[in-house]
Amino acid sequence: MRYAQITGWGKYAPPLLMTNDDMAKVLDTSDEWIYSRSGIRQRHYSHVSTGEMAWLAAERALAAAGVDADDIDLVVLGSTTPEEICPNTASYIKNKLGAKKAAAFDLNSACTSWFYGLNAATDMIRAGSISKALVIGSERISLAMDWNKRESCFLFGDGAGAVVIEAADQRVGLLSAKMSCVPDSRACLHLPNWGMSPAHLTGDIFVSLNFEGQEIFKSAVKGMSDAIVDVLEKEGLTASDIDLFIPHQANIRIIQTLAKRLDFPMEKVVVAIEEYANTSAASIPLALCDALAAGRVKPGMTILTATFGAGLTCGAGIIRWGDRVDPIAESDASIPDFEGTVFDLMADSFVHYGVDAKHLLTKG
Ligand SMILES: CC(C)(COP(=O)(O)OP(=O)(O)OC[C@H]1O[C@@H](n2cnc3c(N)ncnc32)[C@H](O)[C@@H]1OP(=O)(O)O)[C@@H](O)C(=O)NCCC(=O)NCCS
Repeated sequence: MRYAQITGWGKYAPPLLMTNDDMAKVLDTSDEWIYSRSGIRQRHYSHVSTGEMAWLAAERALAAAGVDADDIDLVVLGSTTPEEICPNTASYIKNKLGAKKAAAFDLNSACTSWFYGLNAATDMIRAGSISKALVIGSERISLAMDWNKRESCFLFGDGAGAVVIEAADQRVGLLSAKMSCVPDSRACLHLPNWGMSPAHLTGDIFVSLNFEGQEIFKSAVKGMSDAIVDVLEKEGLTASDIDLFIPHQANIRIIQTLAKRLDFPMEKVVVAIEEYANTSAASIPLALCDALAAGRVKPGMTILTATFGAGLTCGAGIIRWGDRVDPIAESDASIPDFEGTVFDLMADSFVHYGVDAKHLLTKG
């Protein structure tokens, strides 16, 4: 049997931070309200594109795996916010990496995109059609924030995470996966006009998230619980056999509710939401990178992951970690910093959404 081991991992967290206190300077909100409802303290906002963030995370993952870009057969970009749709953004990343022989595709299932991509690439390796793949989750979701909607714009942040997966003989990597899409819950999380629509012909493009928080909460908990039960059954495991749980980081209350429902101790759950907020497709690989850096992933561990996103797409997987938990090497690639503050970075968005932030700008 052939398996697909995770051999490298890398992330890019943009340097500019928008803290809850910063949010309170442009919205009628507070750190106390946001933190108590979501577990979020801050989010990173990017000055570079989704593809650029993805490229750097991928360079770092390749170095950690000790793999040359030349040897990669496939680059998958999981993202809801690719800067280009045709040609796809994965081909930009592939070219910048110098992954000459790699095929490249973007995959969009919203926040579940990285996990869906991991499952697709794992199945291709297991079927024998490819041997090495890069699976990246990257989002510049700050550009889609409607600053008039205080009930949702605090939830999201930018970032990228990537893994290298390689063919292996031992039973490691993503062993069992379930992908699903909850019926009749498309409308509760929706970005109208995000994509080709008649609004593009008139130039009347205004992106505004339709967000029914409580409906999302219920569907997400149910969808992820069902997917988790499915993969545990497939592997003949119970919750007590899981060493570490890395869920999608949308809201601490969703994670706590899920853990309680599965009778799973929070000590075994990786929580990164305080630092990054919800980075959509990047959230699980970012949390995985931080768990590895903190020494929480041990050789041979059985790791559970679960995710949900607009659609309402859901998924869960059981990953068996291999022997190596340290990177083979580190990449010296980098992205130049932004000159200015996070308010300078968001100045155009504030104008677009009619938020008066001129007094906070240090430029122009
Ligand atoms: C988003 C979420 C935290 C909101 O919590 P909630 O308790 O449902 O909040 P509500 O929208 O019902 O608003 C409650 C009150 O807080 C107010 N409020 C909303 N946003 C606020 C903000 N940023 N700051 C302060 N007050 C706010 C509302 O106006 C409302 O006030 P009222 O009671 O006087 O009418 C919650 O719905 C949630 O966790 N949803 C799922 C998370 C999620 O979907 N993540 C992303 C999916 S990919």
